[in-house]
Amino acid sequence: MSIVIIRQDEKIDLWKNALSTANSDIKIYSYLEDHPVDEIEVAMVWKHPKGSLKPYKNLKYIASGGAGVDFIFEDPDFPKDIPITRVVDDMLASDMSEYVIGAIFSYLKNFNSHKINQINSQWNPTGYRRITDFKVGILGLGTLGQALAKDLVRFGFKTQGWSNTKKVLPQVNSFAGPLELDAFLATSEIVICLLPLTPKTKGILNTTLFEKLPMGAYVINVARGGHLVDEDLIKMIDKGHVSGACLDVFHEEPLPENHPFWQHKKIHITPHCASVSDTQSVVPQILENYKRMKAGKELLHLVSFKSGY
Ligand code: GLV
Repeated sequence: MSIVIIRQDEKIDLWKNALSTANSDIKIYSYLEDHPVDEIEVAMVWKHPKGSLKPYKNLKYIASGGAGVDFIFEDPDFPKDIPITRVVDDMLASDMSEYVIGAIFSYLKNFNSHKINQINSQWNPTGYRRITDFKVGILGLGTLGQALAKDLVRFGFKTQGWSNTKKVLPQVNSFAGPLELDAFLATSEIVICLLPLTPKTKGILNTTLFEKLPMGAYVINVARGGHLVDEDLIKMIDKGHVSGACLDVFHEEPLPENHPFWQHKKIHITPHCASVSDTQSVVPQILENYKRMKAGKELLHLVSFKSGY
């Protein structure tokens, strides 16, 4: 009856305590402490060191500590013969939606450039834009994308989304598959990336895609740094085709000190904090899956090895 937590940030104890408090019958270990490796049935991982799953020969499944699982597939040594689950959580979805809506309003009302003016003691009352001035396009209509679409509609934004398969969502224009991507891009004046990172979507935010957006489009990436070709974004902003960007995720995190994004006036960056798994909200689904595994039932929120998400 044991779970090991493997992550490289400072949150191991937080998760360990939250899980033990919710169910004291299950032994929860940090991978950094002495623990009976052969007794471990579940590895709860978040950006684990590559190869760190290798010692666990009796794992029944791997639980991602977040919505994304790209970091698991990037580890050549993860066990391929057991299921992977991910977090699907209302709070994770509403946090993401609140962040993106905040970023959109900040763009519409020029908060970023006003802050720069403030630092330079400059009074520059530029014009602002309104909700009704824009069509907002969401790349990726999974759990997070759909929750965002619903909120955007509630605020009165003209909303559209693109995904692998067509989604039926009230007042959301849904585009699907490669054949409809160009039409989606041509009408998305603000584009938000909420795609899973897979070999198919790696580098999707590149010059070719940006050129298909309307002149002056704004880009928000809250998915993964790997979706974006950094140089292409800078080039398109400096050319004026893209008016600016808000980025929460990066190829390398923390973003290296000498990266040009830090100093770019039209790029607003935040340190991968748009939406973070909350222990109180997520622990019940981790324990529910543990119970299901013990009872031989199908696990919740299974990841498809074929699609990679
Ligand atoms: C956050 O980035 C997540 O995948 O949950």
